[in-house]
Amino acid sequence: MANTTTLTIIKPKSIQKNFHGAIINEILENGFKIKAMKMVQMTNSQAEKFYEVHHDKPFYKDLTEFMSSSPVIVAILEAPNAVESFREFIGATNPDKAAEGTIRDKFGSSITQNAVHGSDSNENATKEADFFFSKLERFNY
Ligand code: CMP
Repeated sequence: MANTTTLTIIKPKSIQKNFHGAIINEILENGFKIKAMKMVQMTNSQAEKFYEVHHDKPFYKDLTEFMSSSPVIVAILEAPNAVESFREFIGATNPDKAAEGTIRDKFGSSITQNAVHGSDSNENATKEADFFFSKLERFNY
């Protein structure tokens, strides 16, 4: 299966709870290669832009406030069929429904404050990677 990429965000609560080391370790142990990674704190308007697709949803305000409330770690990950395989690895959006042993099951607090984000399509993976990373910040190794 061809290698593709996905974009993940380790969300504010995961970092506040000091889970980010464990999450990054699991990402690597499960065969995802880190092609780019950095810590950033989004402004509220950047979070609104990132989640623009959800702007008419009732959770949009809470989500964008949460995502800009403190630093996050963003990364481009590469793996065979990365979007789908990463979504399976992190589990369902709602941590209460995430399969046992998945990242959102182990580290998520609630549906809005779930542990990590993962792109939902190859097209969005590209858009989301371009949102955070320049060419110089991406590595082939
Ligand atoms: P994420 O993968 O970052 O992409 C969109 C986010 O919206 C999602 O994770 C959740 O945190 C949030 N979200 C999705 N559905 C709901 C919902 N029904 N209620 C609250 N937040 C939601």
